[in-house]
Order: sequence, then C-alpha cells, then structure tokens
Amino acid sequence: MKIGRVTISDRASAGIYEDRSGPEIERVLCEFFGKVVKFESAIVPDEIPLISAALRKFADEMQCDLVVTTGGTGIALRDVTPEATRPLLEKELPGFSEAMRMQSLARVKTAILSRALAGTRGRALVINLPGKPAAVRECLEILAPAIREGIAHLRGDDPHGKI
Ligand code: MTE
Repeated sequence: MKIGRVTISDRASAGIYEDRSGPEIERVLCEFFGKVVKFESAIVPDEIPLISAALRKFADEMQCDLVVTTGGTGIALRDVTPEATRPLLEKELPGFSEAMRMQSLARVKTAILSRALAGTRGRALVINLPGKPAAVRECLEILAPAIREGIAHLRGDDPHGKI
C-alpha cells in the first residue's frame, strides 16, 4: 500500500520549525496498517498551486492508495487547503469530515474550526487533517476503519469475498 502525506505549512516548509505532523501520520498509519505501508512525503507552503501539485503527483502520477494532508484547514488568512483540495475531488466523502469534527468536538471544543474535506480522486482516497500532531492522531484513529474499507472499495477488492 502506498500513502502520500503532505504537510501544508508556511513555517515548516521554510524550515522555521520542524514538521511533527507528517511523521505522526506515518506513525499512526503504521500502527494501523502494519509495515506493509510505503510512504511518499512532501512539505509545501500554504499556496493553492503548490498544494494542488503535490496532491496530483501523489494521486495521479504515483498512484497512492491514500493521500493525507495535514494543516491549513482552519480560517486563518493563509489557510487554503480545502480550496486546493475541493476541485481535485471526484466524489466527496462528507462523512469523513463530519465524523472527524463531531468526534473531535467531544475532546476539543475548537475542532469545528477545521474545514477539512475528504473524497476520492481516481483510485486514491484523499483526506485533509488538521495541522497539530495530536489532532492528526485523534482524527486518524476515528477514520481508520473507514480508510481501510474505502481503499478496498477503490481498489475493487471485495472485503467480504463474495464478488
Ligand atoms: N481536531 C482534533 N481532533 N484535535 C485538535 O486539537 N484542533 C482544531 C481543529 N481540529 C484540533 C482539531 C483547531 S485549534 C483548528 S484551528 C483546526 O483544527 C484547523 O487546524 P489547521 O488550520 O492546522 O488545519
């Protein structure tokens, strides 16, 4: 399984601070999927064309099964991750973002500030996550079962062995 992870942050991309959310994506998904996962990674500033190019590269050229972003989902002036993601999605998966916000809200009252989106692009599942490492873990844990099932559907695998 190939997973592309994109950290979207002006400061992390400029080396002003260390990217801790990207590595956290790898840790959580390895815990979930095991060592069968191969990661591709990118760090880009909060600029629509650069975010869009990274998403296209991982979904279209590298044929990742899953493309996860972290950061840029809030309402600060520079936050444009949803704007970069939406035009690339072929089927939106509002359930992913609704579940993320609803379940995160029980832990952190600021969870509803995230405008994260999710959906499909070709055979890739694309998911926006918030920027904080703790939020990355909290959200991936909520979504993990549906990520596994969603990837199987996009690959055309029959999870129940009936087709
Ligand atoms: N979701 C979870 N599970 N845990 C969190 O700590 N932080 C929130 C929210 N979602 C948070 C969360 C905050 S404070 C913001 S501003 C938004 O995600 C957007 O974060 P981003 O702009 O870094 O993507």
